[in-house]
Amino acid sequence: MVEPGRTYVVMGLLDSDSIAWAIGRRIREWGGRVVFTVQNERMKTIFLDRSDRRLPAEELAALDIRFCDVTDDAQIERLFEGLGEIEGVVHSVAYANPRTCLGEEFHTDAMEDILRSYHISCTSLARVVWHARRAMPGGGAVVTLTFDTSRVYAYYNWMGVHKAALEALVRALARRHGRDLIRVNAVSAGPLHSRAASKIPGFNRLHRIWRSVSPLPWDVEADKEEVANMAAFLIGPYARKVTGQVIAVDGGASVVAGTLMPFEQWKYPTSLADDPHEDHEGPTLHG
Ligand SMILES: NC(=O)c1ccc[n+]([C@@H]2O[C@H](COP(=O)([O-])OP(=O)(O)OC[C@H]3O[C@@H](n4cnc5c(N)ncnc54)[C@H](O)[C@@H]3O)[C@@H](O)[C@H]2O)c1
Repeated sequence: MVEPGRTYVVMGLLDSDSIAWAIGRRIREWGGRVVFTVQNERMKTIFLDRSDRRLPAEELAALDIRFCDVTDDAQIERLFEGLGEIEGVVHSVAYANPRTCLGEEFHTDAMEDILRSYHISCTSLARVVWHARRAMPGGGAVVTLTFDTSRVYAYYNWMGVHKAALEALVRALARRHGRDLIRVNAVSAGPLHSRAASKIPGFNRLHRIWRSVSPLPWDVEADKEEVANMAAFLIGPYARKVTGQVIAVDGGASVVAGTLMPFEQWKYPTSLADDPHEDHEGPTLHG
């Protein structure tokens, strides 16, 4: 549940595969008013207006979309100055150059790429909270998205490092903004199809790997809704005493040591070979 009629800002919409889209839809279904942000007008034209055939034109036209590149502090400031009072913010934003930050070799001398990825994927959350706080004079909530940092995944390289920093930042911001009655939490999602995920080598095979480590069944498409439920819950009034937390919505995969024994595994109705998304030839994220 969210506060009916109140405004929630959902940052990081690219297309209808975005986790931001699922979260925004859930907040709307629960009665909230949603303002989406897209990185810039060009991204909106390419990914939402031209390429996304699943979004009906009327629905797209009715969305309240603002532009905000989180590497530009002035844009973040302007965004929150122009919205009136809001109840919460979802930060669903990340970037890493796949050629330098996500390859087979962890080491790279592309320091600018590492720092840009860190800026977008981690420190931008602090700037968002800083500028958003004035729009939440009576308190509010911020939720960001992370991916399991308890283990090291092949190829995820610098994004894994930046997600670990993001989780530390969530705790630091929770401590700093308790006095403002602003809560800061993260949802640690299992693997889900999206454009960002498609840039990570071997990501599609993670679906199969997740099935061997997750006690609950995991669906890279349908379970976006479960991640959206948790994000909308955390941003809403029933989580009023929850802050500084990283809540895993991953089917339980992050608590399992090794892989599940065959007798422990959920019996998936279709064979893994039937998964149209799976890359059978490619490398796995676990190496
Ligand atoms: N897809 C997954 O499996 C998965 C799992 C766990 C966590 N996450 C996290 O969820 C969040 C959303 O990712 P997604 O999977 O929905 O992919 P996505 O590609 O739909 O969303 C990523 C968003 O970040 C935005 N972005 C990148 N650089 C930006 C900048 N400079 N300014 C503003 N926005 C910028 C992109 O435009 C895009 O809208 C990310 O933080 C991602 O790491 C994803």
